[in-house]
Amino acid sequence: MVTRRRQRRGNRRSCILLPPARHGVSVGGLPVRGADIVDVLLSAADLAAGIDRLAAAVRQEIGHRPVTVVGVLTGGLVLVSDLIRRLEGPVQVSMVWASSYRGTATAPGTLDLRLDLLPDLTGREVLLVDDIFDTGRTLAALVRELRRRGAARVRSLVLLRKAGRAEVAMQPDFVGFDIPDAFVVGYGLDFDGAWRHLPYLAALDSADIAAARAGQRSHDAEPVPQADPAGHPRA
Ligand code: IMP
Ligand code: MG
Repeated sequence: MVTRRRQRRGNRRSCILLPPARHGVSVGGLPVRGADIVDVLLSAADLAAGIDRLAAAVRQEIGHRPVTVVGVLTGGLVLVSDLIRRLEGPVQVSMVWASSYRGTATAPGTLDLRLDLLPDLTGREVLLVDDIFDTGRTLAALVRELRRRGAARVRSLVLLRKAGRAEVAMQPDFVGFDIPDAFVVGYGLDFDGAWRHLPYLAALDSADIAAARAGQRSHDAEPVPQADPAGHPRA
């Protein structure tokens, strides 16, 4: 279980700011406004150490046999790029896309999958990589589909597993961190399209979420589109 480090909460705002004590500058166009409001669950250093451990555990289990890493867009983007650079030995990389449309909701809706970029997986050792195991529906559906496509073995890896939320029988083979049941953003994870680019993992509390729903974001630098031009929900 990770330790929750509550940062200074001065003037509360519905945006997340980098802790000035660590960074002192804005990132990705987010203005630093004096009082930061973030609950940092995992710092960039915590995340890096976790990914070191995950990479070592994967190689310990599969040795130096070739592995096809299948990352899940969009949330798994940052994790995949960090993980593959730590996996020694032969690695192939491919991405799929999955979305349980959320918008400003924090509960999943219908699962939408796009798998058209996958290579032939027949006989391959596959490592499915996603940001978080919440209800587990996304990972369970993808594992089923990758097996159906003839992979010799499908293992799954997530950076985060949320406590007390699982709705499926399976568990991931590799888990970076068990976290409390909070809605988290950063390191690939978003809230209504925002904050994926934060280099650390932060928790939104109910006031942050309520303020965002009420349209009080001070996150002016980024528009928050609801759907892409083809009408697909955002990943
Ligand atoms: P599932 O409920 O395990 O199927 O979770 C599916 C997806 O929901 C994850 O891959 C994430 O993209 C997203 N998700 C779940 N919990 C969170 C969260 O706390 N923050 C941001 N995205 C989340
Ligand atoms: Mg996801």
